[in-house]
Amino acid sequence: MNRADPVYMDYAATTPVDERVVAAMLPYFSQDFGNPSSIHRLGQRAEAAVENAREQAAAVLNCRPDEVIFTSCGSESDNLALRGAAFAARQQRGARHLLVSPVEHHAVSHTALQLQQLHGFELEWLPVDEHGRVDPGEVARRLRPDTALVSVIYANNEIGTLNPLAEIGALCRQAGVPLHSDAVQAAAYLPLDVQALQVDLLALGAHKFYGPKGVGALYVRKGTPLLPAQTGGGQEFGLRAGTSNVPYIVGLAEALRIAAQERPARTAHVQPLRDRLVGGLLEAIPEARLTGHPVQRLPNHASFVFRGVDGNALLTMLDAAGFAVSSGSACKTGSPEPSEVLLALGLPKEWALGSLRVTLGASNTPAQIEALLDALPQLVQQARQLAAR
Ligand SMILES: Cc1ncc(COP(=O)(O)O)c(C=O)c1O
Repeated sequence: MNRADPVYMDYAATTPVDERVVAAMLPYFSQDFGNPSSIHRLGQRAEAAVENAREQAAAVLNCRPDEVIFTSCGSESDNLALRGAAFAARQQRGARHLLVSPVEHHAVSHTALQLQQLHGFELEWLPVDEHGRVDPGEVARRLRPDTALVSVIYANNEIGTLNPLAEIGALCRQAGVPLHSDAVQAAAYLPLDVQALQVDLLALGAHKFYGPKGVGALYVRKGTPLLPAQTGGGQEFGLRAGTSNVPYIVGLAEALRIAAQERPARTAHVQPLRDRLVGGLLEAIPEARLTGHPVQRLPNHASFVFRGVDGNALLTMLDAAGFAVSSGSACKTGSPEPSEVLLALGLPKEWALGSLRVTLGASNTPAQIEALLDALPQLVQQARQLAAR
């Protein structure tokens, strides 16, 4: 990073690519550049790299290699899971009911809405508690014989809350309904054993765990009915057409391998920093709240709301003060809208508009946390004065 760059505390948005991952990818750009579908030796070498990556990913997921589908990003994995499972369930058993949590990333929620609006599916949102957690009992109450798919995020991107996937998975299995989970944020810190999690579909995106942008994966349990979202060649077992992005697939697998291996050390680095930040901030700033679950949350994730603050104005001030952080609200043509996830927690608009997300990673230090804690109270006060004008 450049010396003039702000302190990076936005690891949920994206992460830098690990140097070991870059090194693993490099040979596949211009040396072993073959098309894995080609018969000749160069093609075979590329194919071996992709299949090796598939095995590596399968080892982390505790699944068979042919249950791993490489895609172009986490969003594509979510799209393939939702569209593919919904259309297959309708085709095979006339199922039209979708059960989706209201704290999903737009890659899931907007896909579900499109399935409702354009394709005639009945979309039912699951309730969540004040921490954004899905109660398995609520899933049990809503599962129906014609439920095509249940989708519940593993770890939320805005508020860091973790969901009890294994319990929800067991209920879905009993009912014969596939469970999809978006594990895009979870992958950097949480176990991804799909047998223990009892999921049928699981989406990953490499750039959230020190891999490259533009590559993802979808776990598809054998026997889960799924139609391809992208048709064409027979790559990825006919589920995702398109010439394989060999270097990026190699990069995803290497980043995933390292993430699984270094998970305890990474957690031990970020969690105390995060805890100091949460404790220090709530003590120093009046009318501030932690959003998401206090304990059942990603270890690097701190998210807050401040009453009477425009979150985007606060982000701009923080950027000027040298901190790259994020918020939950998307500013639409000058009129900020609170995030759907924060509203789903039951937060009033004057709180939900003032959101701040700080997500830590490899480069962060205790001194950086203290610097942020020193800067924030005054900036929040200024942002409040600005919003009150
Ligand atoms: C929970 C979650 N799902 C999906 C995505 C989309 O992933 P990608 O950027 O790889 O498309 C993101 C990215 O922010 C995310 O946080």
